[in-house]
Amino acid sequence: MEAAIGFRNPFRPGAGHTPPYLAGRKDERKEFLKRLKQDVVLSNLVLTGLRGVGKTVLLDTFKPLAVREGWLWVGADLSDSTTVDEERLATRILTDVALATSNFVYDRKEVRRPGFGHQADLLDATLNYPTLRAVYEQTGGLVADRLKATLTFAWLALRASPSPPRGIVFAYDEAQNMADHAGKEEYPLSVMLDVFQSIQRQGAPLLLALAGLPTLFSKLVDARTYSERMFRVLFLNRLDPPDVREAIVRPIQEDDCPITFTEESIRQIEKHSSGYPYFIQFICHEAFDVFVSQITTGSSNPSVPIDAITARLDSDFFAGRWSRVTDRQRDLLNVVSRLDDPGSEFSVQEIVELSRKLPVKGFSPSHASQILAALINSGVVFRNRHGKYSFAVPLLGDFIRRQYTDEQSELIDEAG
Ligand SMILES: Nc1ncnc2c1ncn2[C@@H]1O[C@H](COP(=O)(O)OP(=O)(O)OP(=O)(O)O)[C@@H](O)[C@H]1O
Ligand SMILES: [Mg+2]
Repeated sequence: MEAAIGFRNPFRPGAGHTPPYLAGRKDERKEFLKRLKQDVVLSNLVLTGLRGVGKTVLLDTFKPLAVREGWLWVGADLSDSTTVDEERLATRILTDVALATSNFVYDRKEVRRPGFGHQADLLDATLNYPTLRAVYEQTGGLVADRLKATLTFAWLALRASPSPPRGIVFAYDEAQNMADHAGKEEYPLSVMLDVFQSIQRQGAPLLLALAGLPTLFSKLVDARTYSERMFRVLFLNRLDPPDVREAIVRPIQEDDCPITFTEESIRQIEKHSSGYPYFIQFICHEAFDVFVSQITTGSSNPSVPIDAITARLDSDFFAGRWSRVTDRQRDLLNVVSRLDDPGSEFSVQEIVELSRKLPVKGFSPSHASQILAALINSGVVFRNRHGKYSFAVPLLGDFIRRQYTDEQSELIDEAG
């Protein structure tokens, strides 16, 4: 089995790991390209969807598209809460911009730095962090005013450089972590929206591409109602059936790949992943190893041990999240998992009604809302703009039902 040793398992289950073959997502890429064609930025992008649906890796593929179209790319992951206050947001943005612009040299005579008048200054005429910082510090007013001035300056300087870019894309992943904190009088999210809205209105091509969980868009709109018009929301869903198949078979259609999946195995992977990218990668990764070892031991008809893989998925992917949920929250999630279609939207009303019919302690509407609020905070559930709830994790309902079936059959076993 020489070949089996040489060919590494190509599948990549993991957060933000580039898949061996990025299936589908053609419309989303087109939408992004359209936004790069705008002379004046009227429309920015929000990429949203459940956990593991492929937001991060899709955002990554936008970068080469942007660069090809002559845009600078500024990107960061906002999962560490660097954006809890306005000053830190400003520092974050200036640092990110400087990373992309520090090679640009601009003509000091053509681009006046705010606060410096016409006097020649001593700093480099490169658009590096000290330059941007100095502009920021020299500008008076609120954080938003200073950021606007600095970004406008950066854009004018870029435009005056020998090879000006078409614009700058600001790509922020895990953007649902941004929030205003009225109690602390810190409004980083609103500041960011104000800054970009104002700069874009003045004609500077600075484009926002935000990715995050489905709470993201309602957060934006809650902070500034004009967000509704400022962003186009792309909701990433499970992959379409032909794309699911491609995601499964393309990575192993290589000359030196020691295995192929049987038609029956492919169907099983399609079915058990429900077309969700993370699950496709996970099941294929496991199945690949099993196929290689079955072939090595001379099995003529290898197959996917779907029960074993599901058990592994439960412990690798779901169990961690489940362990952070309290008993009463579990009761409520259990009720949700018994709804006709727990993968779609549900309401407090539905939970309250169904809980009366199930062998759990019932929920009052206010109690259910309270628990849901806690589950939203821990990222298990989200609430859409119409007040309906959904699981933020795909196939969570199936997992929960498996837990309770196990527990209940244990009880039955014990009783017997
Ligand atoms: N279009 C695709 N085709 C094949 N595999 C994909 C595709 N999109 C994502 N994946 C795979 O799915 C997994 C999850 O992708 P990614 O981390 O981008 O999801 P995410 O939506 O950012 O998740 P999270 O909400 O947890 O940040 C990765 O293993 C990735 O390789
Ligand atoms: Mg991600």
